[in-house]
Amino acid sequence: MNTIISPSLLACDFLNIEKEIKSFPNQKDLWFHLDIMDGHFVPNLTFGHPIIEKISKVSDYPLDAHLMVNNPEFYIETFKGFNLHNFTFHFEAAKDTSYLIEKAKENFPSVGISLKPNSTVSYLTDDILKSLDLILIMSVEPGFGGQKFMEDSFEKVKFFNDLKTKKGFNYMIQVDGGINQQNAPLLIQKGANNLVAGSYIFKNPREDYPAKVASLRS
Ligand code: DX5
Ligand code: ZN
Repeated sequence: MNTIISPSLLACDFLNIEKEIKSFPNQKDLWFHLDIMDGHFVPNLTFGHPIIEKISKVSDYPLDAHLMVNNPEFYIETFKGFNLHNFTFHFEAAKDTSYLIEKAKENFPSVGISLKPNSTVSYLTDDILKSLDLILIMSVEPGFGGQKFMEDSFEKVKFFNDLKTKKGFNYMIQVDGGINQQNAPLLIQKGANNLVAGSYIFKNPREDYPAKVASLRS
């Protein structure tokens, strides 16, 4: 399977979101990553329902929602109208993880759980792992773009990839935070098949975005 690259719109030019979104012509295996922060689960606020709805109207690619919010269950009802492809939440924020996965699965094609750098993974039972389409391994503390990649993420990717092979799970392994051309090849080698990148892509002239995406796969 080809590596999916998920440009994080958090790093784009918010005054020109439509132009930014349209700067990835004819791509395969590209999602747009939406970092939704509520100022409670993380100490930052980004964008909410009206903006996500607008983005969903102009995007030609699957939308990947990364909810860094308390009570993620409250968001399913509204988000289901926005044609999101993937719905990822942080399990520490959920009241009942299994119930939330089940509810989200009724409304979105793909459902993921995100792990912060210090999240306790033993909480993820085989039943939960079996039901997931995606595991998001945070390679920075969630909350802000432009942070430095944490090197211990390689081992975490390997851990979840080995577990997946051993137990026959189906989840995609996504890594988010500080991704660049140096760490991407090793992440892919360890088993990651979905890389989120904000600054690495958007802090460049718009015409260079497709080449930046391609460079993460090579
Ligand atoms: C951080 C977000 C990331 C972030 C990635 O909380 O989840 O998606 O935007 O940005 P970069 O690639 O700049 O680290
Ligand atoms: Zn993210």
